[in-house]
Amino acid sequence: MEKLLERCMELSDGEEFVFSDGRMDSSIMLIGEAPGENEVKLKRPFVGKAGKNLDEFISMLGIERDDMYITNAVKIRPHKLSLKTGKRINRSPSKAEVDKFRELVLEEIKLITPKIIVTLGNTPLKQLLQRDVRIGDVHGMLMYVEVGDKTYMLFPLYHPASIIYNRDLRQVYIDDLSRLREVIHGLGI
Ligand code: URA
Repeated sequence: MEKLLERCMELSDGEEFVFSDGRMDSSIMLIGEAPGENEVKLKRPFVGKAGKNLDEFISMLGIERDDMYITNAVKIRPHKLSLKTGKRINRSPSKAEVDKFRELVLEEIKLITPKIIVTLGNTPLKQLLQRDVRIGDVHGMLMYVEVGDKTYMLFPLYHPASIIYNRDLRQVYIDDLSRLREVIHGLGI
C-alpha cells in the first residue's frame, strides 16, 4: 500500500489528493468518481453530501461501510474557478485525468483482490472497461472485468449524487441495490 500511496502522490503532481478508505482485506471494493471539497478537507472519500446518500444505501446492503474498501477513479478534486465568487467549484474529471489515474486503480484492485467491484456512475465504469459504456444501459447488471491475470465481478450502480439531482432514480437505485444484495449473499460475503 505504501508504494501505491507514493505513486498517488506522484500522479497528483503537487495537488491535494484523497487516496482510499476501509479494509484492505475487504471482499467488496467500491469505486467512486473523484473527491469533492469536503473529502479533500478530511482526506477521506465520500464524507460530503454524496457520502450521506452512500451511507444510507450501504446500510440497505446489510453491511457496514467500514467493511468495504472505498476509493475513487480520480484522486484529486477536479475543479474550476467560479467566475462569480472566484472560489473553486467541482467539475467532472477530464478524460486525461481519468486515464492518468487508471494504472493506480488497477494496482489497487490487484492488491485488494476483491470478490466484487462496485462502480458508482459512469467515470469508474468507463475507466475500468475502457469503452463507451453508459451507466443508464448497464446499471444493476452483473458484468466482468479482467485485471492482471484475474477476472473480477463488476456491478455498476448509479452515482449516489445522481439521486440528489434526480429523485426519480431513487427507486431504480433501491432495486439495483437489492440485486446487489443478492449477489453479495450468493458470494457468501
Ligand atoms: N463523490 C465521489 O465520487 N467520490 C467522493 O469521494 C465524494 C463524492
